[in-house]
Amino acid sequence: MRDSGTLASVASRRRCEFLQDVLTGLGTASKNVPCKYFYDKRGSELFDRICKLGEYYLTRSELSIMEASAPELAEQIGPGAMVVEFGSGSSVKTRYLLDALLECVAYVPVDISSEHLDHAAAELASDYPRIEILPVCADFTKPFELPLPTRLPSHSAVYFPGSTIGNFTPELAIALLRRIALLVGQGGGLIIGIDVNQDVAQIEAAYNDSLGVTARFNLNLLRRINDDLEGDFRLDSFEHRALYNAELGRVELDLVSRIDQCVTVAGEGFTFSEGEAIHTEYSYKYSIPAFAALAASAGLSLHRYWTDRHDNCAVLHLVADAQETGVLVSRAN
Ligand code: TRP
Repeated sequence: MRDSGTLASVASRRRCEFLQDVLTGLGTASKNVPCKYFYDKRGSELFDRICKLGEYYLTRSELSIMEASAPELAEQIGPGAMVVEFGSGSSVKTRYLLDALLECVAYVPVDISSEHLDHAAAELASDYPRIEILPVCADFTKPFELPLPTRLPSHSAVYFPGSTIGNFTPELAIALLRRIALLVGQGGGLIIGIDVNQDVAQIEAAYNDSLGVTARFNLNLLRRINDDLEGDFRLDSFEHRALYNAELGRVELDLVSRIDQCVTVAGEGFTFSEGEAIHTEYSYKYSIPAFAALAASAGLSLHRYWTDRHDNCAVLHLVADAQETGVLVSRAN
């Protein structure tokens, strides 16, 4: 697996960034912790359980689209591609794509959780001997280096399923989509899954499941801060909250303090009043036209899309426009 530096130096750099982000996030007036820190080993396992919950419609809906439409999707992408997946997790949905793609040269799963990545990559390598599997352990919200496949691909396509783009504010989503457009280059593709559900009751139930798995997933962030950053959060003194904000079209995930309390992280103290929240994540829901407009402002044009039969979820194929940055230079002879 690719990563820069020795394992020990990577681990200590990551811990440093985590500590910085937590101290900064808890030190501001509206406390928050970036959602990428959900995904340690335990968090990734809990997330896999969320995906199997009855109330969590997203994974099922997207899988049904992939199952029914993978051949059409593969045709859209074309032969000879290198596929880069952002936030690959267990790579379950990817298999539909890899099964259908013609002469796929390489598959690059990118994930922040190394345990998950190693495991998924090893299984894919044995199941797809004709595709070069090149895992990259990285935080895809930051620039990272792409590995060079042995065979030259005709073009690259980014696969970004799971409505993960919905976990970014629209401004950050545009910035990330812009980076994707640059990464794949003109004519390169993006296959992205978004949540288009309009049913508020169904949306709220998906993030407040009756078994409490989503609550445990959210609270696991505090457990991780305790374990990795010498925190002393009492998990039973915070509660999970997920509410749909109709005006902004997003679910807001928070951890709410049940009491007035003081918590320390790496020796630094933070006070919480009863009812005060730590914001942990957004999950934006989009209409197809609204998302197409957002992507267009990032240099990606919508070519085709598929929805499931309940219109809960959509998978879109977008293509990168000519780039404004002037990288393409025509040279006179
Ligand atoms: N991106 C998906 C969503 O917004 C999955 C997800 C990310 C999620 N974080 C979550 C689901 C927290 C439940 C709770 O739905």
